[in-house]
Amino acid sequence: MGQRSFLRYGMVGGSLSSFMGNVHRTAIGFERDVILTAGCFSSRDAVNLETGEALGLDPARVYLDFSEMARVESERDDGIDFVVIVTPNNVHYEAAKAFLEHGINVVCEKPLCIELDQALALEKLADESGVLFAVTYAYTGYAMAKLARQMIKEGKIGEVINVNAEYLQEWLLSQVGDSGESLGTLSTWRTDPNKAGNSNCVGDIGTHIESIVSYMTGLEIKRVSARVDRFGHTLDLNANILVEYSNGCPGLYTCSQVSAGYGNALAVRIFGSKGAIEWKQESPDELRVTLLGQPVQTYYRGTDSIYGRAAQVSRIPSGHPEGYYVAFANTYKIYTNAVRKKLNGEPLMAEDLDFPTIRDGVAGVKFITATMESGRKDSAWVEL
Ligand SMILES: NC(=O)c1ccc[n+]([C@@H]2O[C@H](COP(=O)([O-])OP(=O)(O)OC[C@H]3O[C@@H](n4cnc5c(N)ncnc54)[C@H](O)[C@@H]3O)[C@@H](O)[C@H]2O)c1
Repeated sequence: MGQRSFLRYGMVGGSLSSFMGNVHRTAIGFERDVILTAGCFSSRDAVNLETGEALGLDPARVYLDFSEMARVESERDDGIDFVVIVTPNNVHYEAAKAFLEHGINVVCEKPLCIELDQALALEKLADESGVLFAVTYAYTGYAMAKLARQMIKEGKIGEVINVNAEYLQEWLLSQVGDSGESLGTLSTWRTDPNKAGNSNCVGDIGTHIESIVSYMTGLEIKRVSARVDRFGHTLDLNANILVEYSNGCPGLYTCSQVSAGYGNALAVRIFGSKGAIEWKQESPDELRVTLLGQPVQTYYRGTDSIYGRAAQVSRIPSGHPEGYYVAFANTYKIYTNAVRKKLNGEPLMAEDLDFPTIRDGVAGVKFITATMESGRKDSAWVEL
């Protein structure tokens, strides 16, 4: 059999009106030879069929149930090579399990699932089946997040001695003190514990802080002490989290959906013994580097000063901003390259796995679980 370059993928969730379905399809579209072939886009049959038709799928590959999709696709000679799961959080576990049990590679949105025992079960299944499992903490796909990681690894700022990071949004501010019944345009499931799990804010955006800090620094969280605020809602809208990493280094994370004036203001500041690095998601092509005793430097994506992984994933010249879609596209570029190598029987090197994996998914669920427990226990320290 010849070498595989063409890949087929399927999607669970992601109907036409969804947020992430279009983001993932657009990002995968940056890869010329990776084609949407099958889907179960909604639990509502009419929406599912309408989405399949609008996306030009063969009706035989539009499934009313994702378990059926996993079984049938695994039996076809031309079955999908990987599945993308973009449903609300409560569906991730059952959907991922169905495809893992049929040996199909999985890309799953964050958080990996809503219970820690589910996360550990998925990790075990993924290890046993040998599938390539990505969790789309896609901010790690930005070129300058990769440059930060490389510089920290090279010791440019010395030993990391403190971390300060935040993810601020304002979209739920108008709901403070409200019952939370009507949430405007963004999906209401985020504040519904049956669909979001035991956390809204920490599970939706706090988990991105945990992921990107871990990606840039390699630090692992040992324990957290959190103040979690609900402002009249069932689930959290705001959290301030004191962190201690396994090497004793401290960190402070704030995630908030009630911060006026902020859209998706993820900012990461890593302080080292010789300098500091700062990166902001809303101006992702810049990386601010301060070395002790020297002027502040700003590195720009696409310029000659960029090197390593950051240069490899950088797509267009400097001054043309790359953004959110490209962060996902970079994650998919690396992931689909790994899937091709696997299908072709080629060995996978560490750099082939430079995407958030099932381990990062499990770490995310541990972080959310411990943070919410600390919040319930009046900010007591909780080990991960
Ligand atoms: N990585 C990121 O930056 C990022 C950003 C936003 C959302 N997310 C995550 O993406 C996921 C989806 O979020 P969203 O904002 O797109 O939600 P959404 O409500 O816009 O879309 C959810 C989709 O899932 C479908 N669905 C629900 N139950 C289903 C089932 N049983 N079978 C098949 N389809 C089903 C719905 O019909 C809908 O199309 C969530 O887990 C969220 O946390 C990640």
